[in-house]
Amino acid sequence: MKTTTKQLKLGVFVLHAGYHLAGWRHPEAISGGENLALMIEIAKTAEAGKLDMLFFPDVPGSTADSTPSVISRFEPLTLLSTLSAHTKHIGLAATASTTYHEPMNVARMFASLDHLSQGRAAWNLVTTLAKEAAGNFGAHEHLKHADRYARATEFVQIVRGLWDSWEDDAFPRDKASGQYFDVSKLHTLNFRGETLSVRGPLNLNRPPQGHPVVVVAGASEDGRRLAASHADVSFTAQHDLATAQAYYRDIKEKTRLAGRHPEEVLVMPAVVPVIGATEREAKEKFDLLQSLTPIEQAIPLLSFFLGHDVSKLPLDEPLPNLGSSEAMKSRTDLLLELALKERWTVRQLALSVAASRGHLLVVGTPETVADTLEHWFKAGAADGFNIMPPYFPGGLRDFVDGVVPLLQARGLFRRDYTGTTLREHLGLQRPRHPQTMAHEVRDRSPSLTPTLA
Ligand SMILES: Cc1cc2nc3c(=O)[nH]c(=O)nc-3n(C[C@H](O)[C@H](O)[C@H](O)COP(=O)(O)O)c2cc1C
Repeated sequence: MKTTTKQLKLGVFVLHAGYHLAGWRHPEAISGGENLALMIEIAKTAEAGKLDMLFFPDVPGSTADSTPSVISRFEPLTLLSTLSAHTKHIGLAATASTTYHEPMNVARMFASLDHLSQGRAAWNLVTTLAKEAAGNFGAHEHLKHADRYARATEFVQIVRGLWDSWEDDAFPRDKASGQYFDVSKLHTLNFRGETLSVRGPLNLNRPPQGHPVVVVAGASEDGRRLAASHADVSFTAQHDLATAQAYYRDIKEKTRLAGRHPEEVLVMPAVVPVIGATEREAKEKFDLLQSLTPIEQAIPLLSFFLGHDVSKLPLDEPLPNLGSSEAMKSRTDLLLELALKERWTVRQLALSVAASRGHLLVVGTPETVADTLEHWFKAGAADGFNIMPPYFPGGLRDFVDGVVPLLQARGLFRRDYTGTTLREHLGLQRPRHPQTMAHEVRDRSPSLTPTLA
């Protein structure tokens, strides 16, 4: 059992139409991927709850089978730049694909957001789960899983290297001497890799956080290794405690083996809380959402998450073992295991995926939700959670008004922001510039001076 004053980290996962497939149909729900007023309300509600970060997922493309949250929505970094002006404390996290972006652009976009927000930016690094995206970038097919991760591994090194183009305080802007920047504090990357090569430098001063927070949401072996070597946060889908504990231990061990301190990577599973004033009210709310979910819409979503078309399978027969997928290995494996363990039919799995897509689902009172989060946290299954409200804005307000005060009363969550940057909220170090560290080593022992380009 964890006996520390360490506190939970909490993010909110924003799918504007709600995380439940039918969330937007709830009588209280408001949705709209272009509804800026709704986005500002969500951001302000999360900040009023003292949450660590807002998270906007993304897939660069859609099809006629896409869900309401995906079919039309803002590009997340454009949106976060606006939300940074409507908030003061909350972290601003967005997805950017390493398969369908160039490292220079990603480094510039997140460094810019970090400056705009005075140090609150976070990049959710994904290799993109949707093979349909390929067609939008002149590719005939989606890269293979292993190739996507090979590119992602070079990609993140380049982005971090570009964020180190400038040492801290490299811009004196001294009108008297005419020195605008100190060229000795400028470092050109010249990265040459198997799949990517980037010269640099980044044409933007070093971000306030040194490096914006890097999140990795992949959970396959490749995903775990990438997180352990290069991430600050690991997002994951977990639906039971034992598996979540095993994932937590594995990430921490891989982080240690990668030469980092295990606390340098925070593990944040997600949870879909369906909250009512009583257990009965919560159950009724959940049953209403399930009743608003046509199976015709749940089946394409299941096919998407399994990476296999299940539309021809008999609905009320057990799901056959379809085997893993190239799209998102760990999620497909998780759902197949769940169906097998629960002996679910295709229909039952589809309706479960419509509700929580394989993530932990908690239906109950604020106490029930707080107890579950506290138990997982103290049982070594999580450093924090990504909250996925079934619909907005009410589903988030239920959590902020009902669950957060309980977690605060138990000393498990902050009562107020004490830091200004996202790294300070998360208790993560600000990466020091490699040159700064080299200087310190040299000053401590002149004979061991390493050199940098
Ligand atoms: C909390 C969370 C958020 C995610 N957000 C995105 C996203 O915005 N875009 C995306 O393409 N994939 C997203 N994913 C999916 C992952 O990128 C990845 O495809 C999936 O976890 C399977 O990883 P694996 O192939 O390493 O097993 C997310 C996953 C999790 C757990």
